[in-house]
Amino acid sequence: MTEKRQFRAIKGTRDILPPDSALWNWFEQTARDVFESYNFREIRPPIFEETDLFARSVGADTDIVGKEMYTFQDRDDSSVSLRPEATASVVRAYIEHGMHTLPGNAKLYYIGPMFRRERPQKGRYRQFYQIGAEVLGQSDAPAIDAEVLEMLLVLFKRAGLALTMLHVNSIGCKECRPKYVELLRQELLEVKDKLGADSQRRIDTNPLRVLDSKLPDEQSLIETLPRIADHLCAECRQHFSELKDELNLRGIAYEENWRLVRGLDYYTRTTFEVTAEGLGSQNAVCGGGRYDGLVELLGGHPTKGIGFAIGSDRAILSIQEGGQAPKLPGLAVFIAWMSAATYPAAVQIARKLRECGVS
Ligand code: HAM
Repeated sequence: MTEKRQFRAIKGTRDILPPDSALWNWFEQTARDVFESYNFREIRPPIFEETDLFARSVGADTDIVGKEMYTFQDRDDSSVSLRPEATASVVRAYIEHGMHTLPGNAKLYYIGPMFRRERPQKGRYRQFYQIGAEVLGQSDAPAIDAEVLEMLLVLFKRAGLALTMLHVNSIGCKECRPKYVELLRQELLEVKDKLGADSQRRIDTNPLRVLDSKLPDEQSLIETLPRIADHLCAECRQHFSELKDELNLRGIAYEENWRLVRGLDYYTRTTFEVTAEGLGSQNAVCGGGRYDGLVELLGGHPTKGIGFAIGSDRAILSIQEGGQAPKLPGLAVFIAWMSAATYPAAVQIARKLRECGVS
């Protein structure tokens, strides 16, 4: 006899059950409505890709690629990975389908699961869901950055996400950033002994990520480090200043955060995150930024890009915790038949009501 065994969802994954699944559908539909009003259209890239696509775009030295991807050898010996994010796939698709020949910017959104082998906790899962949007084209006008942020905040407002804050920064371009990173590296080497093991390692691999550190002991030291705003080239400074004008024009409140560097390598200039209250340490409900070099890095024509991804798990949690969840329609009619003689009528009435769209 085979042994009786109960299966459970794998650590870091979960079932989204009714009634929560209705809230998920409503949130995703609200995103579709808002994005389509800004003329974005849906793209559905595959859930797994060549491992190298992520290594090249997100960056081989990042935590995501180095430690968190679900990578496996396919039967033909090629290495494939479950997508940890979708910007790389969107850019791959943009190049593969020659979308640069289409008139205007490509404005694309996606909704679906992503996979990262992180330590699970509240708001952090190994299979989680993102709603993302990307703009690809020839212009890097700050008005595009601002419009993308406007769209994101319109969605959050419509969905009732309580107490969010937009943090923005500019991390420069391939001209000015390397010089700043080198300066940062030199300064960090001087204080290496005072840093924790992770930060010490990052001095070599990616000094910018030291600015991300949440270690209490490192905070006062990090505050004394050189800031990128003082080292941007004239064009990047101008771009950031125009972005802030464009945000003001749209009445969008923001906080400048010089330590917002993001954990993916493809960013240039604008970076941003939206945090929400009540989520504990995993309080970023959305992250994004500009990635003007990525299309070329993946073999396409020089193209500008900007986008974001919302963490749906966290957004939904924030809607629920803020008490803002909408009351979604439930069952409208309940039919009870009183005897065997009325049963046929009950079956027919139920069917007719459903045909008319009544639940
Ligand atoms: P990201 O900051 O890595 O950016 O992820 C975006 C959002 O996904 C985060 O702010 C968070 O809400 C959610 N998220 C990330 N990891 C987890 C997890 N383990 N569990 C739950 N939620 C999570 C990107 O993925 C970029 N592709 C965004 C982007 C698009 N940049 C330009 N275009």
